Amino acid sequence: MRLVVTGGAGFIGANFVHTVIRERPDAHVTVLDAMTYAANRASLSDLPADRVDLVEGDCAVPGVVDDLVSQLAGPKDTVVHFAAESHNDNSLAGPGPFVHSNIVGTYQVLEACRLHDVRLHHVSTDEVYGDLQLDDPAKFTPATAYNPSSPYSATKAGADMLVRAWVRSFGVRATISNCSNNYGPYQHVEKFIPRQITNLLTGQRPRLYGSGANVRDWIHVDDHNSAVLRILAGGERGRTYLIGADGEHSNLQVMQMICELMGATGTDGDPGFDHVTDRPGHDLRYAIDATATREELGWEPQHTDLRDGLRRTIEWYRENRDWWEPVKERVEARYAQTEKVL
Ligand code: NAD
Ligand code: DAU
Repeated sequence: MRLVVTGGAGFIGANFVHTVIRERPDAHVTVLDAMTYAANRASLSDLPADRVDLVEGDCAVPGVVDDLVSQLAGPKDTVVHFAAESHNDNSLAGPGPFVHSNIVGTYQVLEACRLHDVRLHHVSTDEVYGDLQLDDPAKFTPATAYNPSSPYSATKAGADMLVRAWVRSFGVRATISNCSNNYGPYQHVEKFIPRQITNLLTGQRPRLYGSGANVRDWIHVDDHNSAVLRILAGGERGRTYLIGADGEHSNLQVMQMICELMGATGTDGDPGFDHVTDRPGHDLRYAIDATATREELGWEPQHTDLRDGLRRTIEWYRENRDWWEPVKERVEARYAQTEKVL
């Protein structure tokens, strides 16, 4: 089985490549990554060179994906499309790269898969559905109407629509998955969980947007990727699969867990972290109903204890300072331009 994995030097893509190499002895992976600020070669450096190639290239540039996809011919060969600009805060500061990578990039991937009749799995997000009220009894299902809020989620929604259209109009053999918030090793320190962990590891105070009432549905990255592998093995052409592990927690709860696990809980009324300026248009709550994915594909998440997953993630960031330290200062300097302690 040969896989082209776009965005494979980013967080989820790199973890996916590790999983494939560990679990599929028959697989060869070509990673195509533009090596943006979010990519890190070191995330792939301990993988066998005869089974993983890294090609630096922008999937939105005509011809780049096509060159790699034209080399796939086997019945199980697949493009797994992770590449995207992925951070909401960056999409508010500058949406242009999001339109480029997420929409034009997906268009080029679709055209290459159409031309060479190659199977595609498109990795998307629960954010395409907008947000829920805190007490809303319904969770997101594949039938939920799209209602994206930010430039990031709007471009992901646009990409999903292109995939659906290419399936229907051209018969492209594609599947889509929409997953909730991932955490685990190799996640960029701009994101919520690694930002707080690395703030504490560098003697800085963690930062909570607004009151911290916003809820995210956390899933360990290995559970996301095991679901993607199930979809590659048994997913039906044209179908959308939702991936989530019933991991709803408010940001305040997650922050308190991190502080507790790292021995940083405040005293005398000091919570140990700062409340800072809220994100404009901040989605209140995401929640995934993954029943169909579980029942139809026999998938079950394995890492559902968030506290335990956080403990292992904290350990990873403690032991891999070389991986994140070079970019930490730049990320915090960028946040400092807009963020104010409340
Ligand atoms: P990430 O930002 O860590 O990694 C994205 C990777 O894509 C980077 O290596 C980057 O260099 C690469 N990339 C960006 N633009 C590119 C382009 N034009 N051509 C080639 N490569 C390009 O993101 P992530 O968190 O690993 O997310 C991966 C995918 O999963 C994205 O599609 C995202 O929308 C989706 N997703 C993420 C989450 C999450 O919680 N992080 C949840 C659900 C879905
Ligand atoms: O739901 C899936 C999505 O999850 C993915 O599609 C995105 O690619 C991924 O980045 C993530 O989006 P979020 O915006 O939910 O993730 P982020 O890590 O940026 O923030 C998680 C929550 O924590 C969110 O409510 C904002 C809040 N937050 C974030 C940061 C960086 C803070 O309170 N403090 C922070 O410092």
